Amino acid sequence: MPKNITSAELREKFQSFMESKGCHRIPSASVIPENDPTVLFTTAGMHPLVPYLLGTPHPAGTRLTDVQKCIRTGDIEDVGDASHLTFFEMLGNWSLGDYFKKEAIAWSWEFLTDEKYLGIEKDRLAFTVFEGDEDCPRDTESWQLWRDQGVKEDHLFYLPKEHNWWGPAGITGPCGPDTEMFYITDTPACGPDCSPACHCGHYLEIWNDVFMQYNKQKDGTFIPLAKKNVDTGMGLERTVCTLNGKKSVYETDAFTGIIARISELSGKEYGADEETTRAFRIVADHMRTATFILGDDRGVSPSNTDQGYILRRLIRRAVRFGMKLGMSEGFTGEIASVIIEQYKDAYPELLRNSAFVLEQLKLEETRFERTLRQGEKEFEKVAARVENGVIDGLSAFHLYDTYGYPIEMTCELAKERGMTVDTDAFAEHFKKHQELSHQGADQKFKGGLADQTEETARLHTATHLLHAALRKVLGDEVAQKGSNITAERLRFDFSFGRKVTKEELAEVEKLVNEAIEADVPVVCEEMTVPEAKEKGAIGLFESKYGERVRTYKMGDFSFEICGGPHATHTGELGHFKIQKEESSSAGVRRIKAVITANQH
Ligand code: ALA
Repeated sequence: MPKNITSAELREKFQSFMESKGCHRIPSASVIPENDPTVLFTTAGMHPLVPYLLGTPHPAGTRLTDVQKCIRTGDIEDVGDASHLTFFEMLGNWSLGDYFKKEAIAWSWEFLTDEKYLGIEKDRLAFTVFEGDEDCPRDTESWQLWRDQGVKEDHLFYLPKEHNWWGPAGITGPCGPDTEMFYITDTPACGPDCSPACHCGHYLEIWNDVFMQYNKQKDGTFIPLAKKNVDTGMGLERTVCTLNGKKSVYETDAFTGIIARISELSGKEYGADEETTRAFRIVADHMRTATFILGDDRGVSPSNTDQGYILRRLIRRAVRFGMKLGMSEGFTGEIASVIIEQYKDAYPELLRNSAFVLEQLKLEETRFERTLRQGEKEFEKVAARVENGVIDGLSAFHLYDTYGYPIEMTCELAKERGMTVDTDAFAEHFKKHQELSHQGADQKFKGGLADQTEETARLHTATHLLHAALRKVLGDEVAQKGSNITAERLRFDFSFGRKVTKEELAEVEKLVNEAIEADVPVVCEEMTVPEAKEKGAIGLFESKYGERVRTYKMGDFSFEICGGPHATHTGELGHFKIQKEESSSAGVRRIKAVITANQH
């Protein structure tokens, strides 16, 4: 019997239940990981907690709970079906060397079955347990713990690593066997061998308790952790969907408002036919993810690299499917506004950053429409030449390189016309092109400067001085919005409402050069965020509750939270020169600057 539960109720019920077990509620961390260069986005609740799972003490204690914003874009092409999402919320509770299997399983059972919480009928639940292999023995303990709760043998399943192992989130890090919890639906089992490992719809996963006992190494080996941890994850959207007996996450309250707005703007009806439904879902999903990326305190702008590239892809796909539905220009902002309103209580940063979200969407929509018109025209020319149904790699690369037409779009257009694209050949051209541009950079670099890492550290250190100087000259309104460093220059984006005058730029330059000439040491100190804040450091404070951060101080001039790398003395920087000041987007200015060998 499905229960009626809203997303907000589940968020609150879960966290207050865990609080009753002594877990401290911590806020969601950023969707852009701060300490893990191996992945672009935060993929699970445990991800920002990796240092603590590896043994660093967490100031909020050894029992934690939260709801974490997560992004997984690996299956972007599958979005449009009933279940795939690129953004989702994950409820979780952790033990950092504190409680272990016994408590975790007992609490999971209580939360799932107790009338005060989810009140799921006991016979509607099934559980899987790790069957064991050469890395880790069979988890008979968890099996017995479920049995102790009264779970029948035929509701328990041993499964291999493929199903009952979690982590690490990146390439290395904490991981371990897990026990997963499933809701048994009215969809009949597909046969006598049906188990939670199959996708027939009889069993739907709602929660996962991971027993993090290992630290996976680069060489693939597993080293036991000194302290054993628990990491759990409950997908909010999916659980609300399952408990409410909905066929699709898009029919839950996470999406009803968004879909209603798409319907108003397009005049189309969700569910009218398969293609329309798919387009609605793609727009809804991608816009939600894009809004959360842009609205994050570490939010980035659309670009051609890293997170910015994924963001660009999401927005552009949403625009393309939105156009198919007949929505007119500017619709992305309309939808984002609904999303911000819907989530502003749970994630206040969305409201704080709403101006940035709306500006960036508008800019990207305009840019893309221009690209699209031109790219599609070019695609048609290419398609007309094709004889064997395959678009060759060079043509696809040309569309990308010259017209900015994304390869995924070329593939999609090709598919719509029953053609394919030689993506391997495209990848080769792409790689060759990248190598060439790197060679170009190296070439320019041979002018006698030090190696790239040292140079990067110097430019990065100069960025701190620039940030501090801008705040001194222009005021505290200035805050970092982005930074990018190549072998030749630094680029710094910051919030400021107007063009910076020549005189102001000269003053900024002068202050930075004075700080360099003073040749003060760059002092690194680790402290908690509240400490850093109290001492007057600048940087991102939000969503870093309790974390120990590194701060870098250069005399009285600059004091900032940062991850490095840095020079050891400001004097190593040479001479600082601003080359360009321009608009980056509405309310955001961009400075490009270089440092040259010291003139004395
Ligand atoms: N980290 C675990 C998951 O994502 C809980 O399922």
